[in-house]
Amino acid sequence: MSTFFTDEDNGWTDDSISFGDGAPAPAQSIEAPDANSLAVPGAPAPTVAFAVAVVESDPPTQQQVASLLGEGVSTFATLEELAARLTGTPVVAVLGPSSSTPDSLAFVDRLLQSHRELGAILVTNELTTALLQQALRVGVRDVLAMPVETTQLVEAVQRVASALSTAPLDGDPSALGVADEEAGKVVTVFSTKGGAGKSVIAVNLAVLLAQRSAKPVCLVDADLQFGDIAVMLKLAPQHTIVDAVGAIDRLDIPMLQSLLATHESSGLLILPAPLEPAFADQIGASEMVQIVETLRKFCSFVVIDTPAYFNDVVLGLIEISDDVLLVAGMDIPNIKNVKIGLQTLRLLNTPMEKLRLILNRANSKVKLDVSEVERTLQVTADSLIPSDVVVPQSVNKGVPVVQDSPKSGVSRALHELADIFIPVDAKRRRR
Ligand SMILES: Nc1ncnc2c1ncn2[C@@H]1O[C@H](COP(=O)(O)OP(=O)(O)O)[C@@H](O)[C@H]1O
Ligand SMILES: [Mg+2]
Repeated sequence: MSTFFTDEDNGWTDDSISFGDGAPAPAQSIEAPDANSLAVPGAPAPTVAFAVAVVESDPPTQQQVASLLGEGVSTFATLEELAARLTGTPVVAVLGPSSSTPDSLAFVDRLLQSHRELGAILVTNELTTALLQQALRVGVRDVLAMPVETTQLVEAVQRVASALSTAPLDGDPSALGVADEEAGKVVTVFSTKGGAGKSVIAVNLAVLLAQRSAKPVCLVDADLQFGDIAVMLKLAPQHTIVDAVGAIDRLDIPMLQSLLATHESSGLLILPAPLEPAFADQIGASEMVQIVETLRKFCSFVVIDTPAYFNDVVLGLIEISDDVLLVAGMDIPNIKNVKIGLQTLRLLNTPMEKLRLILNRANSKVKLDVSEVERTLQVTADSLIPSDVVVPQSVNKGVPVVQDSPKSGVSRALHELADIFIPVDAKRRRR
């Protein structure tokens, strides 16, 4: 499949961008001798044709980056040269390491502000948090560290290109094509007791919703100090919440999308917790709320995992949540803590309709009776999840239990929990 555009006056050669399977840049049989071609494996067709430019002053590095993108990529030694050739044709610029100086980034900032048709990716020798933040602040959409893999770079180019095709031209948010759609639901999983099973429940619920939903579903790890969602899903994330907060002034849907990790087998999107507990301090409630509000513009569900205590961030998230899943383990300390948690939520005027009680490890082997617990808490349980060794086994494998042991009682209970949000015919599910 290929799209094609010719604009003889703008100085760009004929460009053809082919999105299909196969390796980058098998030369296309196009009439123009110097036609450009960029193949993105497995990617959907873009809605606009675009050109790809590599900007780098060091010739070997320029060649190295350009070769990853295949034939027909335009190359420039300086940002000024690129600027001279911009005439309204959509362009994705891949900026090499020579563009990471403060002066260059300031130039990039001006260029991106005056050219809405331009999107930029920075490739750097060393990826530091400071550089990432500076780059995102000036509007660079993604930052990748050398050595870059072909698929990684090509996918980044494609993401930026699709953002270019949907970017609002006049700052009108409705131009993003999402403003008139219904905002996604925010589901926060909370418990006032560590080890209650919040993360297990958040991960598996999110995976099931991602499998059932046509629109994206995102899981946010708001356990900012000790978040373990990335580990539970065996992901080595490139970006975390810290990067989203660093770019908060310019945070829009495409930028946030570029920071999310993907759980390949379910399609679930993940915004991971900071890699270092110390970074948690940098993240305030208002920033967290802004991130989630941006996510719900393009996701059907935003599931949020939380720490085991109330803080500003948790309270802010509970306030904007449509549903709060209160997770309680089946032992006396758990029930005591949940009771205190419920009282706190009542004091904070949290509408009780939002709250759903999830009893985890609820089966006959423990001495506590479900009805006893419900009487104590004066709330009926919406979901009972049995205790099963397949849960820690799946956690240790980094595979969600609903995928690792889909036939277990735990998985069945988690499917029933997901039914509250997206109902599925149980017979169809079993097949
Ligand atoms: N239903 C269950 N059956 C058996 N083990 C469970 C169950 N739910 C959670 N666990 C185990 O309990 C531990 C804590 O769960 P986790 O979800 O990390 O708790 P939290 O996020 O509330 O601190 C994990 O090792 C997990 O494997
Ligand atoms: Mg947890």
